[in-house]
Amino acid sequence: MGKMLDNLKANNRAWATRKVAADPDFFKRLVAQQTPEYLWIGCSDSRVPANEIVDLDPGELFVHRNVANLAPPQDANYLSVLQFAVDVLKVKHILVVGHYGCGGVAAAVDGQRRGLVDHWLHPIREVYAENRETLEAIADRPAMLNRLCELNVMRQVKNVASDVFLQEAWARGQDITVHGWVYSLENGLVTDLNVSIASSDSG
Ligand code: CO
Repeated sequence: MGKMLDNLKANNRAWATRKVAADPDFFKRLVAQQTPEYLWIGCSDSRVPANEIVDLDPGELFVHRNVANLAPPQDANYLSVLQFAVDVLKVKHILVVGHYGCGGVAAAVDGQRRGLVDHWLHPIREVYAENRETLEAIADRPAMLNRLCELNVMRQVKNVASDVFLQEAWARGQDITVHGWVYSLENGLVTDLNVSIASSDSG
């Protein structure tokens, strides 16, 4: 038997107790239904905890996370989340949230081989190739990578907005906006990249 993670179980009990102390019906309500208005598509990085950053409770944020916050049009996991969020939960906003200092973005373009993740990160190399001139003009490498983080978010926003699920939702008059944000590990603040798309013709 390995370690039984008693500290995490104790944390869990304390957390559940605190929640009920603050709001006796908290879990009863959530059992009945979830009605989140937001879908978060973010990076798996442990320093970018979705609910905490925007100070939302369980039930308020539908979350999909993967390495480097990608929205690849052939990924069944992402697509399943997207369809459920759009068609069933009817979220009002989809937040694609990258972060500066993203290890996935850096790994995509450092020329090293790691295995499967190199394939996963391929879309970022495409974004790099399409913006090569601009990016190579940035002498400072961390600054260049941070710009690539932003460009990656912008591309993923386009992926989401051009998806059939979004196009169909807009066609039937559903109110839903796709946003691109970047989070800073250094100060905990989110920057809106102002690339929001709210209809099929605003992209
Ligand atoms: Co990351």
